[in-house]
Amino acid sequence: MSNLESAHIVVVGSTMIDMLTYSKKIPGSGETVIGDNFITGFGGKGANQATMARRFGVNVSMVNTLGDDVFGESTLANFKAQGFNTDFVRRAPGASGVAPIWVEPDGTNRIICVPGANNAMTEEQSQSAIETLPHISVVIGQLEIPQNVTAAAFRTARSMGIRTILNPAPFAPISKELLEVSDWIIPNETEFASMHPAGLSPTSDEIIQEFAQSLNCRFAVTLGQAGAAFTTLDNQVIRVSAPSVKAIDTTGAGDAFVGAFSVGLALGLDDATAVRLGTECASDSVTRLGTQSSYPSIEQAKALLARVER
Ligand code: RIB
Repeated sequence: MSNLESAHIVVVGSTMIDMLTYSKKIPGSGETVIGDNFITGFGGKGANQATMARRFGVNVSMVNTLGDDVFGESTLANFKAQGFNTDFVRRAPGASGVAPIWVEPDGTNRIICVPGANNAMTEEQSQSAIETLPHISVVIGQLEIPQNVTAAAFRTARSMGIRTILNPAPFAPISKELLEVSDWIIPNETEFASMHPAGLSPTSDEIIQEFAQSLNCRFAVTLGQAGAAFTTLDNQVIRVSAPSVKAIDTTGAGDAFVGAFSVGLALGLDDATAVRLGTECASDSVTRLGTQSSYPSIEQAKALLARVER
């Protein structure tokens, strides 16, 4: 078993309260439909990735700003209950982030994020977190907080020899400053095509290789049921398949991949095994409802780790 206690993942990222509505039919403009089920839960791509990582028993620090509302209170309590370091979680006046989500019977979703206090994060906050938190293995970021805040964290991490992982979701044009300090970029197929200057999807190894070379980064592209494709240090593409499962809710599956993959890197697993850990956890998560509520328990996560390490 790898040394879980010495790994430390820092997530500089978002929190949301997810409001998930399950419905056979998604309403058109001006239409009302009757849905089947509704749940609320803790979400936000940053918090989801932190949660997935923490399920393995590694140290996790969350860097975020919450609103001064009841959602901020409950999110902070959830962080503490999960055992996150919250030294760099701040509060700001106003609303915390929220995400209304519609899920269809095949498990696909539509999400509107309203970032609220996530947008109050500052460069000083993220930079001092990376300078202060001890023995960091990996820093993760997404695109639900201001990009300059993530870039400040990544730049500081780079200067300290710490690896950085950018999950470019939800897609927005990415600043040159942020791209330059991202070691790994983990997009899904749609995000890859949105990032690509010619709008190309990751349909061939050559497309992925050429894009990785032009950005001077490593890619791990998530491909849904087809698993993932990643670039090696010498820019070859290796494909990792995903277990075949029946999906009921894909919300947060990409975040499960990122959180688990980062744990793999932090533990010093080889890249293919880290990607496999990501695909195993993402596939597992789509078999349960909700976002963080769909992630494997501590016991299940450790069993998945033991399986890929075999
Ligand atoms: O990736 C899923 C997440 O996207 C949800 O938890 C929602 O909050 C949005 O951030």
